[in-house]
Amino acid sequence: MVNPTPARIGIVTVSDRASRGEYEDEGGPAIQAWLEAALISAWEPVPRVIPDDLEGIEATLAALCDEAGCCLVVTTGGTGPAPRDVTPEATEAVCDKMLAGFGEQMRAVSLRHVPTAILSRQTAGIRGTTLIVNLPGKPSAIAECLDAVFPAIPYCVDLIGGPYLETDPTRVQAFRPAHARRPG
Ligand code: MTE
Repeated sequence: MVNPTPARIGIVTVSDRASRGEYEDEGGPAIQAWLEAALISAWEPVPRVIPDDLEGIEATLAALCDEAGCCLVVTTGGTGPAPRDVTPEATEAVCDKMLAGFGEQMRAVSLRHVPTAILSRQTAGIRGTTLIVNLPGKPSAIAECLDAVFPAIPYCVDLIGGPYLETDPTRVQAFRPAHARRPG
């Protein structure tokens, strides 16, 4: 058995309207469906739907890292330039170190789909043994962004002391240096 307990992955939808029930959350379920298709090692989702409130986002991210024991937290929404868009600020506030390459890569790939990709301030960072990654709020952005950065996520999780995440290579080719690969 590769992981004795399932890896926990936080899925956080940051949206005033979805959190008030004004519309159905599509982003969280889209992230979950993407992960279900991509991951072949045991994992379980820890979903949250919260408003665009800086302190509330910080508290939710910190709890998913420190109390729920998530190795990875993926957020959707709140990355743009509007006054209530504060997900990147909350992410930076709770992280020990930032991984700017995630945002750079997601914007570069997203720009092939939509010119407004440049409006997303999405980023990623490490809190303790958890990787936090921001995605934009558009459901169509979920697969575009996860396809772009997920190849680097399992090795990142290894490096910060998390569980060994395995992907379906027909869906996403996770890259690990040879010394870090476990025999399948
Ligand atoms: N990235 C992808 N891949 N696809 C998209 O449709 N929308 C953009 C951008 N990034 C988009 C995208 C738009 S219109 C905005 S305003 C920003 O993400 C921020 O979105 P958010 O505030 O919902 O996170």
